Amino acid sequence: MSENVTRIAFVGSESYPFVKTGGLGDVMYALPRALRREGCEVRVILPYYSCIPEKLKSQVTWKGSFMMDLCLGGQSYFVGIMETEIDGVIYDLIDNQEFFSWGNPYTGLWEDIPKYCYFSKAALAILNYLDWIPDVVHCHDWQAALVPVYLRTSFAGTPVGRARSILTIHNLRFQGICGLQHLKYWSGLPDYLFDYPVFKQSDEDANMFKGGLAYADRITTVSATYAEEIQTDFYGERLNGHLWYHRGKLKGIVNGIDVDLWNSRTDHLLPAPYGEDNVLEKKKENKRALQERLGLQVDENKYVLGLISRLTDQKGLDLITAVFQQMLDDRTQVVILGTGDPLYEDSFRYFENTHPGQVCAYIKYDESLSHQIYAGADALLVPSLFEPCGLTQLIAMRYGTVPIVRETGGLKDTVEPFNEFTGEGNGFTFDRYRADLLLDAVERSKAQYFDHRDVWNSIVLWDMAKDVSWEHSARQYLDLYEELKTMS
Ligand code: ADP
Ligand code: GLC
Repeated sequence: MSENVTRIAFVGSESYPFVKTGGLGDVMYALPRALRREGCEVRVILPYYSCIPEKLKSQVTWKGSFMMDLCLGGQSYFVGIMETEIDGVIYDLIDNQEFFSWGNPYTGLWEDIPKYCYFSKAALAILNYLDWIPDVVHCHDWQAALVPVYLRTSFAGTPVGRARSILTIHNLRFQGICGLQHLKYWSGLPDYLFDYPVFKQSDEDANMFKGGLAYADRITTVSATYAEEIQTDFYGERLNGHLWYHRGKLKGIVNGIDVDLWNSRTDHLLPAPYGEDNVLEKKKENKRALQERLGLQVDENKYVLGLISRLTDQKGLDLITAVFQQMLDDRTQVVILGTGDPLYEDSFRYFENTHPGQVCAYIKYDESLSHQIYAGADALLVPSLFEPCGLTQLIAMRYGTVPIVRETGGLKDTVEPFNEFTGEGNGFTFDRYRADLLLDAVERSKAQYFDHRDVWNSIVLWDMAKDVSWEHSARQYLDLYEELKTMS
């Protein structure tokens, strides 16, 4: 192993295939693989949750264990290391029954705060234990936000203390906010950090993300537009001032997807795999199979709109429910796959009950069905209120499914509005957060689908040809790592 090889440790709360609740899990899988292809050595550090599939648990090997101090007063906690390797990326899973034996993987903030204080400290402790010192510790979201702080305090004089840190914001809505005393107790960090520049958020509250952002050497987020948006009142989730103050170290790098995992030609979950050469024919076959599986009227001429999403306010679902009846006509079907807020789950179930054979609300998390919807739908709805990057529109494009999105965050950066006069663009977009504008975008898409099929077909081909891989963005991260490596 050459000394010039760049070593990166990824620290985050989820990674496919071990555990995934959303796009963070995809990124924690795909970016390390892309960096590996660029010649980096990469380790991914995750909790060893009991919800990890048994098949993967049977593949890990025990690498050692030790006791670690946590909390004010220094209570001692067990740290076990379970390791496995997938295609050259090493996964170190931190084992502790007290913290990781329940949840999916999250439980609720009261329990999650101690859990991720422990995790962040243990992540650095295992790097010292394994004697594998990275150039950069790349931390993801609030669950890993204490890492940059521990790195410069408790671990400052230790071998890992020479590493640099990056904290990536995948979603600013979730920050790890709790009572000052709760965080003080569990983190065991010194009092001086619990003031306004670092953890303090108000007289009573501490904010883990805020502290991590202050201490990280660099902050990144998952699109250039979101990097700008989070410095404003509307998108800043009350941290806009803090982010504006730290803007000198903030950069937006857009996400990609793993194009081997999401490959319509080799996807064994598809009834009829396809490529650019036969998408127009094969999509019909996938559509019919989807309709059959979901109990919809089997008819390849219907316009099938898909939605694959966590069902939360972020995703613009109130716009969809507001114009649902108008979006539906006897030429259109809607397929929803998602779980989340009971209000949305029930609204979509209601539409399914009132439109049998025309609407399917599949209220579950189902990886295999998601692949079949990406392949079998004609268009995918992503009308988000805010969207740091969004991966569903990228996967849809790769599968020749046309995105219908609101122009915000990464949606704005990855979908080019279709222009009916020039014929350019690869999706249908709208700007302000209004249901009538969403409806208008859907109507515009239908006009092309039903009345100008040749134009529609060329949009499908354009989408499939778009480069949505990690290659370009992985290089941007690599440049950032190299820059940090040379920092004294
Ligand atoms: P977010 O991270 O905000 O949830 P993204 O668009 O970045 O949104 O990523 C969502 C990821 O989760 C995609 O891979 C999508 O296919 C997947 N996903 C979301 N809901 C479901 C579901 N119910 N079943 C299967 N996959 C889902
Ligand atoms: C977050 C965001 C989503 C982004 C994903 C991966 O969950 O909501 O927009 O694509 O993280 O970065």
